[in-house]
Amino acid sequence: MAYQSPILNVMIMAARKAGRPLIRDFGELENLQISMKGPADFVTSADKRTEKLLIEELSRARPGYGFLGEEGGVIEGKDKSHRFIIDPIDGTTNFMHGVPHFALSIGLEREGVLVAGVLFNPVTDDMYYAEKGHGAYLNNKRLRVAERREMATSLFATGLPFMGREGHARAHAEAAAVTAVSSGIRRFGAASLDMAYVAGGRFDGFWERGLNPWDVAAGIVLVREAGGMVGDLHGGPDALNSGTLLCANEYLQPQLLKLLKGVTPDKASD
Ligand code: IPD
Repeated sequence: MAYQSPILNVMIMAARKAGRPLIRDFGELENLQISMKGPADFVTSADKRTEKLLIEELSRARPGYGFLGEEGGVIEGKDKSHRFIIDPIDGTTNFMHGVPHFALSIGLEREGVLVAGVLFNPVTDDMYYAEKGHGAYLNNKRLRVAERREMATSLFATGLPFMGREGHARAHAEAAAVTAVSSGIRRFGAASLDMAYVAGGRFDGFWERGLNPWDVAAGIVLVREAGGMVGDLHGGPDALNSGTLLCANEYLQPQLLKLLKGVTPDKASD
């Protein structure tokens, strides 16, 4: 039986409600008003509206909680011990191009610790959720990370920087190093769903540099609750704020970390 506490229910209902208009938008992409936030980083009216809707819904159920959102930044709450971390559309570029691989992402921090996460792809109707100590689920199905122990049989995911972002040479060198010793890598374009796929054992591991807390907050809870390890690319534990993240099962995480640390700056200069 899938575990859904009152707070998980609140987060799931908010994601479903805010996701509904997104399905319509997805079918009418040409009518969306698009504004440029930076090179290749589109922010749509849908993005802004979705964040507003999420904040309204979550605030109604939990007045006083604070927010960290991709669009609106920090909103201080009266309740200093709780904060939602939200990305209205993770995988914005996919969304803009009509690729149905994106998700609304809601993480919840209590006293600075991530305790719950919800990810919802409204097009596929996949609802991923997890609460600390209670496991991770996709719809009603329990998620577990894969058992594979060998790099050679493992499939990894990563994110590659695009125009205007730093670290192209390093990212490509890292991808080449992992490709050479594994069953391959995938770049699907939504970090949150990459992590959900690790939680469900589809991918054996995921790493990326240049990430923001809202890209990964919910995914961190999912992977941990599915039995996986999540940390940064220096071997530290702070995957939420460090900007780099690596996750995998307990066997592959150290192997992947060692391999990526060995990709030296002279081979990858930026
Ligand atoms: C992006 C996606 C992408 C990742 C980028 C993120 P956004 O989030 O998660 O997969 O490679 O680093 O910024 O901008 O679509 O919310």
